[in-house]
Amino acid sequence: MNESTVQADNITMSGGGLYSLATIGAKDVIDIATPRVLSALSDLREHRTTGSYWCFSDMGCADGGTSLDMWRAVIGHLRKDDDQDIQIVYADQANNDFNALVKILHGMTEFDAYLNSFDNVRILESGASFYTPVLPAESLDLGFSATAMHWLSNTPCQISEHVHMVGATGSEQQTFATQAAIDWQTILLHRARELRPGGKLVLVNFCIDEQGRYLGNTGGVNMFDRFNSNWQQLLGEAVISQSEYKAMTLPQYYNRVEEFSAPLLDEQSPVYKAGLRLCDIATAVVPCPFAEDFKTHNDAVRFANAYLPTIRSWNESIFAGGLDTKRSISERSELIEHYYNMYHKQIVENPDGHGMGYVHAYMTIEKVL
Ligand SMILES: C[S@@+](CC[C@H](N)C(=O)[O-])C[C@H]1O[C@@H](n2cnc3c(N)ncnc32)[C@H](O)[C@@H]1O
Repeated sequence: MNESTVQADNITMSGGGLYSLATIGAKDVIDIATPRVLSALSDLREHRTTGSYWCFSDMGCADGGTSLDMWRAVIGHLRKDDDQDIQIVYADQANNDFNALVKILHGMTEFDAYLNSFDNVRILESGASFYTPVLPAESLDLGFSATAMHWLSNTPCQISEHVHMVGATGSEQQTFATQAAIDWQTILLHRARELRPGGKLVLVNFCIDEQGRYLGNTGGVNMFDRFNSNWQQLLGEAVISQSEYKAMTLPQYYNRVEEFSAPLLDEQSPVYKAGLRLCDIATAVVPCPFAEDFKTHNDAVRFANAYLPTIRSWNESIFAGGLDTKRSISERSELIEHYYNMYHKQIVENPDGHGMGYVHAYMTIEKVL
């Protein structure tokens, strides 16, 4: 397959910088990962033997706003006693909003860009998917990615009774698990080639944790079940067709710790043979910032107004993409508005328990010398 096409359809975050404005929780996750990144960097510096400049990547960066503070910390850490050039490659799928990324990185927005605060820092923007090579062989010191690698390279099957793999059963669940294992291996093998010997990856990915928790399912209303029951309601009311219902299958998979770890621990796996080793993996839950705020302001409308955009920022394109293209664009957008308005009304009428707590696995991986 042509490398540029290795990407499931319809995955786009909100553009124009809206992604970062709407997803405070994703930034919290990156802030939590920052000490892990700095520790990987310290370790790397101790053992680094090659390289005349530092090369870092931020894969699945969206508009780049959520990781600005992390990269500022990384550069600040190095610049205490290191003046080598630094190159940071921001990579996302080709239909990402690169205009927003460039504007945010170059300080043309309200976001606090770091570029002018340091000497000899170069940034590059790449439209390469993480299912393809992003960088030349043995050029990468530290690769980073947050909240991105749950997007599969394709939708391996439609899920008949749900919109997400967390609600899939039987052979459909198995088909997703198999695709996810292949995709995880692909991601790691490309990174194994890119990393310099001794290089590191810090990958922060959605997961199903040891207690069975996952995004939007940390107690209270299960967010994915709610997406599904609302979508089913539209089917029951004949607002959408059976095929439109089924076409709304999110091409995502949330690995468990064992699934993330397997190719990095199994001596027979191609990933292990390519030199990648798991240094550490830990899970953590970041509470939904909007649900936390609601506990203090207690205003259900304010909560719904703040919370819905964070959901829409990542799944609206998939719901819209599931609708029949025979419908006019305005009909499709009215239907999508109706769908989110239903959800909004439900939150306003009964706000307790709604929220999108983040459940992540935080991993440090090394390429052995
Ligand atoms: C939820 S956003 C995360 C953005 C940012 N890393 C953060 O943590 O706030 C997920 C990003 O992954 C990107 N993405 C999805 N599939 C991708 C792929 N195959 N290669 C690169 N990026 C991808 C999406 O375009 C989106 O920008």
